[in-house]
Amino acid sequence: MTKVLIATDKPFAPIAITKIKTVLDAAGFEMILLEKYTEKSQLINAVIDVDAIIIRSDLITEEVIAAAKNLKIVVRAGAGFDNVDLSAATKAGVVVMNTPGQNSNAVAELAFGMMVYMARGAYNGKDGTELRCKTLGIHAYGNVGRYVATIAKGFGMKVYAYDPFVSKDLIEKDGVIALDSMEALYSTCQYISLHIPATSQTKKSIGYDILSKMPPAAVLVNTARKEVINEDELVKLMEDRKDFSYISDIAPDNAATFTEHFAGRYFFTPKKMGAQTKEANVNAGVAAAEQIVGFINNGNIQFKVNE
Ligand code: 3PG
Repeated sequence: MTKVLIATDKPFAPIAITKIKTVLDAAGFEMILLEKYTEKSQLINAVIDVDAIIIRSDLITEEVIAAAKNLKIVVRAGAGFDNVDLSAATKAGVVVMNTPGQNSNAVAELAFGMMVYMARGAYNGKDGTELRCKTLGIHAYGNVGRYVATIAKGFGMKVYAYDPFVSKDLIEKDGVIALDSMEALYSTCQYISLHIPATSQTKKSIGYDILSKMPPAAVLVNTARKEVINEDELVKLMEDRKDFSYISDIAPDNAATFTEHFAGRYFFTPKKMGAQTKEANVNAGVAAAEQIVGFINNGNIQFKVNE
């Protein structure tokens, strides 16, 4: 019997587990659940005889792949797959997939929840500001970026985007102004919403120089990955620019500096929670289960992300 492990340090909503199980049961596959594990050894022990693994931000390292002797496929129920050692998977003949788009709306809604929270002074009862008529720059116009654009237009924001991998026509069809460079985006927009993946090219790529181009009362909104920010340079910028705020779905490594020096100018979620809605968990979890069934039974590799 095909064994499918769901290994999630941050568990899916129970409704998602029920629906994933329905998909796997229908295929005659066995579902094994490892949630809220605290030690790497628990993951290593759980993968030993499974054929497939569904994960979220869980780390699938070379060691985990080496321990999983029957492993054929890993599906990251979500967008970013920077937590999976792709070359180790490829070497072991393991297919890696993600589930693009399935949790994007949840991430986009969180970006706006955090923006309103900051614009209203963390609901402190004092006068705040509005998002209407403010400029918003979407850095990378993928699935999340598109949802952000839709919501931003609802708020009456002026919406811009920069993405060298998406045609200007496609962006402008959505009523979004496509700019030619990062510099143009950052110097035009008071709010920047980051949606770039964490890759060797993008890690630490958002630093002092580019952020210092932002207009007065600048707000950087990061629902992507903390690794794309040069955190030391961000601190330097926030020291130099008292009008700059940073909002992030997960705290930076130097969060203590923010607590000490930048009160009222930052907000961090306690745990990465952009995709943490029932809907997103159901969408991504069920897609992951269906992709596993499609791959094991029919060799479907539509969402494969490794070589
Ligand atoms: C993603 O890349 O899909 C999001 O960052 C969600 O990550 P999570 O599943 O760990 O919440």
